[in-house]
Amino acid sequence: MLAAFVSAPSPDDPLSVLEVGERPEPEAPEGWTTVTVKAAALNHHDLFSLRGVGLPAERMPMTLGCDAAGTDADGNEVVVHAVVSSPGWTGDETLDPKRSLLSERYQGTLAERVAVPARNVVPKPTALSFAEAACLPTAWLTAYRMLFVRSGLRPGQTVLVQGASGGVATALVQLGTAAGYRMWVTGRSEEKRTAALALGAEQAFEPGARLPERVDGVMESVGKATWAHSIRSLKPGGVVVTCGATTGFDPSAELNRVFFTQLSVVGSTMGTREELAQLMRMLEVTGVRPQIDVELPLREAREGFARMLEGRTNGKIVFVG
Ligand SMILES: NC(=O)c1ccc[n+]([C@@H]2O[C@H](COP(=O)([O-])OP(=O)(O)OC[C@H]3O[C@@H](n4cnc5c(N)ncnc54)[C@H](OP(=O)(O)O)[C@@H]3O)[C@@H](O)[C@H]2O)c1
Repeated sequence: MLAAFVSAPSPDDPLSVLEVGERPEPEAPEGWTTVTVKAAALNHHDLFSLRGVGLPAERMPMTLGCDAAGTDADGNEVVVHAVVSSPGWTGDETLDPKRSLLSERYQGTLAERVAVPARNVVPKPTALSFAEAACLPTAWLTAYRMLFVRSGLRPGQTVLVQGASGGVATALVQLGTAAGYRMWVTGRSEEKRTAALALGAEQAFEPGARLPERVDGVMESVGKATWAHSIRSLKPGGVVVTCGATTGFDPSAELNRVFFTQLSVVGSTMGTREELAQLMRMLEVTGVRPQIDVELPLREAREGFARMLEGRTNGKIVFVG
């Protein structure tokens, strides 16, 4: 079957190790099922995988991709939950120390078919297209958990999102606006800032800009390039929720600001199967739909990866079968 995969990592030139070609059909062990993929979304995680971050060479070749929507063996329309917990794990699967995302330990979703644990298959609401549903399991679920589960922030408060055009950033703006938060963003170009305003952001700023007032919360996925600005933009008692570090894991901690202004630094990762179902319900109720930048045939996956690597994003990049 056709798939996008990696056979050897390249920390410095990820596109050079991206392969789009034939892979063996997935084999579903007992308790697993095979999903026919109709749409699969790209995440920055897939670029990290090509670099060998979180995916050691000994687990390669590995089919990339965390997100998929498609049909199960009976033809039902489904969404694949990307977090695979260890056998026998109960409770919040994001707290399972042995959990993995599809494409880390088990073959991923950028393929015509993918094998997943039966409990990772969630019914897809008919109101969502396959492409829209494929955006949800990683970027949108992460944004949902950051804002509604982990932040402790309430509607009416002001939330700064670092980044404007990425998958997690656009999800945060759309979800936060729909829920009544005042969403501000930073974006690296005028075009990206204008697009964020069109998505519902109340204000958009250049990276590092002095804000008109300090904010109640900051949503961080950028890391080293924006961390100091995030910490300095918070009101006393504010909260920064971090889910990622695209530009580096080791910024100055700004500890003086953290203790003196009594800030909270909260980590957040993916979400639970139940939260994925709640996210889908929220989209049904509000009418919000993921901002899709482009839909490409899987055969043209390289173009999608290149766009993300170069920062040419305006929402989610989706591969369709
Ligand atoms: N822990 C988890 O469960 C989890 C889940 C999902 C994602 N993540 C992490 O979150 C991050 C974002 O993922 P994504 O899929 O949304 O990525 P993406 O679509 O490629 O978006 C990247 C975002 O980073 C922003 N950014 C700001 N400065 C940047 C710089 N110097 N270089 C590159 N990007 C910069 C971009 O802002 P502009 O709009 O200004 O370009 C854009 O909004 C990644 O690090 C990913 O691993 C973690």
